[in-house]
Amino acid sequence: MELYLDTASVADVERLARIFPIAGVTTNPSIIAASGESVWDVLPRLQKIVGPEGTLFAQTMSRDAAGMVAEARRLNATFQDLVVKIPVTAEGLVAIKTLKKEGITTLGTAVYSAAQGLLAALAGAKYIAPYVNRVDAQGGDGIRTVQELQSLLELHAPESMVLAASFKTPRQALDCLLAGCEAITLPTDVAQQMLNTPAVESAIDKFEQDWKNAFGNLNL
Ligand code: E4P
Repeated sequence: MELYLDTASVADVERLARIFPIAGVTTNPSIIAASGESVWDVLPRLQKIVGPEGTLFAQTMSRDAAGMVAEARRLNATFQDLVVKIPVTAEGLVAIKTLKKEGITTLGTAVYSAAQGLLAALAGAKYIAPYVNRVDAQGGDGIRTVQELQSLLELHAPESMVLAASFKTPRQALDCLLAGCEAITLPTDVAQQMLNTPAVESAIDKFEQDWKNAFGNLNL
């Protein structure tokens, strides 16, 4: 499976890439805006951290297909191994079909339903990003949406894969992986929550205390 960090914070990626076995970094316009740097400045810095094996994702800003395609071409020409995120609208589908013909790898984003995700896959997007928590926040069922999309892709578009996104808890991410998703992207706080269980530190404290009581030091 592929695990991505959903952030454009250079400091966070530097810190977490050392710990987590990440396949790369995903961004969106809000994430880039929060970094305070232009996409053209921050992506090279992220690329340096994730290295030649790492994949970066960046989103187009235009609302029309011609603009999306032009931006995707520019991103693709500038950065190695970059996947272009295209919002799955009617215009987005036109852009995804065009980019597929040009050999530019895309991710269909802003996906709120399994039907919408399936259309992006059939248009030629390699990755499809359903927004788990945002679907939940609308009163829907984000995990069920992912389960349905995963089954639909397995049946009808096996060259595409779900890259589940928009998480607020590790539980949501695990449920997507249990549904068969091959890729997820985690905000840094959720990635850290996967590791930071208070009971782990208490368990290690107890080991240290027992050892110290027996041997008077902490040497192996
Ligand atoms: C990924 O494609 C999305 O841009 C991102 O995960 C959305 O996350 P959010 O709902 O936490 O903003």
